[in-house]
Amino acid sequence: MIREIEYPDVEINVVRAKEPVEATILENYIATAAGSPNFIRHITFDLRNTPLEGKFVAGQSIGVIPEGVDEKGKPHKVRLYSVSSPSKGENGEAHLVSTTVKRVIDEHWETQEIYTGTCSNYISSLKPGSKVKVTGPSGKRFILPKNPQEYNYLFFAAGTGVAPFRGMVMDLMDAGSTNDIALIFGCPYRTDLLYKSYFEDLNTKIPNFHYLKSVSREEPRGDGSKYYVQYQLIDNRELIEPILKKDNTIIYVCGLKGMETGIYQILAQQGYLDYLRVSDDLLTKDPSTWSWDDIKTLKPSDRMHVEVY
Ligand SMILES: Cc1cc2nc3c(=O)[nH]c(=O)nc-3n(C[C@H](O)[C@H](O)[C@H](O)COP(=O)(O)OP(=O)(O)OC[C@H]3O[C@@H](n4cnc5c(N)ncnc54)[C@H](O)[C@@H]3O)c2cc1C
Ligand SMILES: NC(=O)c1ccc[n+]([C@@H]2O[C@H](COP(=O)([O-])OP(=O)(O)OC[C@H]3O[C@@H](n4cnc5c(N)ncnc54)[C@H](OP(=O)(O)O)[C@@H]3O)[C@@H](O)[C@H]2O)c1
Repeated sequence: MIREIEYPDVEINVVRAKEPVEATILENYIATAAGSPNFIRHITFDLRNTPLEGKFVAGQSIGVIPEGVDEKGKPHKVRLYSVSSPSKGENGEAHLVSTTVKRVIDEHWETQEIYTGTCSNYISSLKPGSKVKVTGPSGKRFILPKNPQEYNYLFFAAGTGVAPFRGMVMDLMDAGSTNDIALIFGCPYRTDLLYKSYFEDLNTKIPNFHYLKSVSREEPRGDGSKYYVQYQLIDNRELIEPILKKDNTIIYVCGLKGMETGIYQILAQQGYLDYLRVSDDLLTKDPSTWSWDDIKTLKPSDRMHVEVY
């Protein structure tokens, strides 16, 4: 049984939405490759001379308040964005915090009108030098433990859900981790492999870092089905199983709501119940016979962190 995992005490809500502070956009560049139908940007905020300077750790989120008012004439509400910078700040500068933001663009089912998400499009369009109202930090559970180099990690990310893992992996590299770190990243197209060169470079140079990609719409599984991150547990079992079996491995899942269920299902089928909280009732049945409704009752145990929205 794994010993109790200790987490650092991190500060939250240093700046609240009632009294946001002004950050300056330092950089804002497209993070997807040419030809991608998605617009995802790497945006860095300069928090110099604000109470937020040096306050964010990898895994926490920054709040952004868009300018203007909503349809009801009320000021826009804060939206959260995971920081993608390491805990020491982007490029090691404590006043710089980065995010990975996708423009939300939807067609309304009934009216067929295009709806562009308020905040994601607002910040994605800001030019370097622009001012923006920010809050935070938000979140105290989805972070690395104390002495992070003592653990192994399986990071499951879908799309912009990779943001916190960029920062966490950078923290682990700084901590000189020699334990296993597997980043399992899923995106629709090859053009959407965010931070690809950074992760590919680590994959080549760092023997304990493993980068597994699931490109859902371009690189199907052997049976022709879409490649989702959870299927790496099956298709790359040789690499992943020895990591799962170690008693100092922690799983983190970030991205689309719903992605966690497929991960729970395969972990249960493979017998890794340590990572799950299972009801006593379900424990009386063989996991391979659990129905989808049974799977939906599962929760992560202390060895798994899930942040999906
Ligand atoms: C902890 C946390 C971390 C997050 N991290 C990230 C991150 O790192 N990167 C990232 O890109 N996102 C992240 N998000 C999501 C982010 O907070 C926003 O929810 C996202 O950017 C959409 O906000 P928006 O203002 O652009 O869209 P909104 O304007 O809030 O719209 C959201 C959705 O509501 C619907 N909608 C709302 N109003 C209408 C309307 N009038 N007509 C039709 N449809 C409508 C649309 O379908 C739209 O997709 C995170 C969320 C959380 C909770
Ligand atoms: N801290 C946080 O909580 C946090 C941080 C960042 C982002 N997010 C959230 O993460 C989401 C990311 O969305 P995105 O638009 O950036 O992603 P995206 O680029 O569309 O990529 C998502 C990938 O996951 C696949 N997928 C779809 N359903 C899945 C399932 N059930 N199981 C596993 N994989 C599945 C998609 O495949 P197909 O599309 O081909 O089916 C696609 O390949 C957003 O909702 C954002 O709010 C949360």
